[in-house]
Amino acid sequence: MSAAATPSPADLLAAACDLLTRTSGRTPTHAAQAPGRVNLIGEHTDYALGYVLPIAIDRRTVAVGALAHGPRCRVFSVSTPVPCAFDLHTDPRAEFPPDHWGRYAAGVLALLAELPGRHDLPALDIALASSVPPGSGLSSSAALEVSIATLASALWNVPILPDQIARLCRSAEGVYAGVPCGIMDQMISACAMENHALLIDCRDERATPIPLPPSEEIAWVITDSGVRHMLGSSAFAERRAAGERAAAALGMTSLREATPWLIAESRTRLSDEEARCAVHVVSENHRVLEFVAALTTGDHEQAGRLMLASHASLRDDLRVSCPELDALVEAAMKLPGVFGSRMTGGGFGGCTVTLCRADAAAQVTDALSRAAARTNTIAHPAFIARAVGRASLLPIP
Ligand code: GLA
Repeated sequence: MSAAATPSPADLLAAACDLLTRTSGRTPTHAAQAPGRVNLIGEHTDYALGYVLPIAIDRRTVAVGALAHGPRCRVFSVSTPVPCAFDLHTDPRAEFPPDHWGRYAAGVLALLAELPGRHDLPALDIALASSVPPGSGLSSSAALEVSIATLASALWNVPILPDQIARLCRSAEGVYAGVPCGIMDQMISACAMENHALLIDCRDERATPIPLPPSEEIAWVITDSGVRHMLGSSAFAERRAAGERAAAALGMTSLREATPWLIAESRTRLSDEEARCAVHVVSENHRVLEFVAALTTGDHEQAGRLMLASHASLRDDLRVSCPELDALVEAAMKLPGVFGSRMTGGGFGGCTVTLCRADAAAQVTDALSRAAARTNTIAHPAFIARAVGRASLLPIP
């Protein structure tokens, strides 16, 4: 993931165009890109209808395509030699085994093809190239889904707004890939604004752009623990289910409505796991709003303290961290110029995000790369994230 090793959008576009031409014999007529993301704060709150604050980053998936000649859709990827092929009107769960990436691609196209007023849509040939490392907590699946939805809406001439794309892709992931995720990853990929984070209120799914401090002042350093999670695998779903049970026991539809007082008052009606979930969600929602205030007033020390408190809550209350992530946060906090650090994304592996002074960023990045290399067999150096804009169509070269 070093800057030198990361392919540019133009490199990804060239690779995807070349792949489509070689494998399907089709010349791409349309191209789209969608970014991955880093969540600055507000973890495991989106599916509890709370607040999140992600940025889109300059790691993306590029999708190129053309109307197919044959009856079946085909999706080729630079990162796997085996393409996936499917019928647009067959349930993707019948086409692909659980956890197969084809379910994500086919699921998005199936839901797009079901939009009212669309009949007899032709099959598509699509090729993908990506610089979002899979399984690292940087939303490679949302980047794949949103890039395919953006591309297919242009190929089929199905007009769809960015926030509708986000909802459609989230549904595809939930229904066909079986991942009970919230709206955060797809919403930031589809709706991000350059140099801004998005404060998403997941209750009404409204997103407010929050200007970030200038890059001459601070930097966001992303460090890969090298530990790979499988969101589809049970732990994520278990946390979500515990939160929903806690909300039900408190007589609420979601933990968004809970307060610390209510949780304490109702403690006997909650299992230990449910109470921990509730405490995390309620405190994390509060931290997101405090973090936005700290960013807005330039109080980086306070922003850093909130990141550390978020990490502690994810580690101790929700228990979704792992020793490698904890070690990276500890290593970051020993470095000069660091304000705060935390795990980011679903957890059980993936990345940390560290807030530091811009003039310390190079040393922090080097030191965290070395710290990660001590436990990390995947030699991905830490990198400085730039907040980029949303998914878009690209001109074909
Ligand atoms: C994953 C999910 C998101 C969100 C995060 C945790 O990335 O896809 O919806 O729940 O985990 O904050």
